[in-house]
Amino acid sequence: MGIAADIADDWHAALAALAWQVEAGADETILDAPVNRYDLAAEAPKPLAQKAPAAAVPQASTTAADPVAAARAAAERSTTLEDLSAAMASFDLCDLKKGARNTVFADGNPKARVLILGEAPGAEEDREGRPFVGRAGQLLDRMFAAIGLSRTSPDARSAVYITNVLPWRPPGNRDPEPAEIAMMLPFVERHIALVDPQVIVVVGNTSLFALTGGKGILRARGTWSQALRKPLLPMAHPAYLLRNPSAKREAWADLLSLQARLR
Ligand code: URA
Repeated sequence: MGIAADIADDWHAALAALAWQVEAGADETILDAPVNRYDLAAEAPKPLAQKAPAAAVPQASTTAADPVAAARAAAERSTTLEDLSAAMASFDLCDLKKGARNTVFADGNPKARVLILGEAPGAEEDREGRPFVGRAGQLLDRMFAAIGLSRTSPDARSAVYITNVLPWRPPGNRDPEPAEIAMMLPFVERHIALVDPQVIVVVGNTSLFALTGGKGILRARGTWSQALRKPLLPMAHPAYLLRNPSAKREAWADLLSLQARLR
């Protein structure tokens, strides 16, 4: 084997190592140069003396022990969207928050008749702090524009309001876990109650599961049901439509069904 083969091997090994890191969720560059945390640990000053342990402080309130109850209490205290946004931004019991740059709350017109519920922010949404701003979001905008609806419309009749089940990006865009969905559900329910839309559109499996407990968006899509005492229309997620353009025909049928319902 010559030098060229070694270099090619290194290149493939480096690419495989990078792909592995992206898979594990390390898919964002934060600094220009890597930091060797082992060196930092060696340089860290040693504590001068071990302090005596502090007297035991009873910390575990019932809500801290039960994150769903804590979320429900925080959501119920929120009487406006501003309150709710602040309550979610200061909710520390979901580990996803630790890896996120922004709490992605919502976008669009809160007076809209249509509320679109997605899954969770991706990389672009996490960076910008707004839902559905990446490629899938651009497709979502085009889809709803085709039936005269827009997140930028000041007129409630032609507006949409957009939010997600989770306000923080799961690492590496992995699927949200049922415990994460259950923890954030009280906020989602409060969010929908405060916006009080005429209809809810769930895009993708996560939001279908969160609001109905059902699975299988491709079977459920296009069939109206009820959730939170509102008409609910399941649709394929725009990210799925980007990967499967032939499914756009059914999405178009779903959009027409929504348009008919709004008339
Ligand atoms: N996918 C979602 O479900 N939500 C977003 O905000 C972006 C992508």
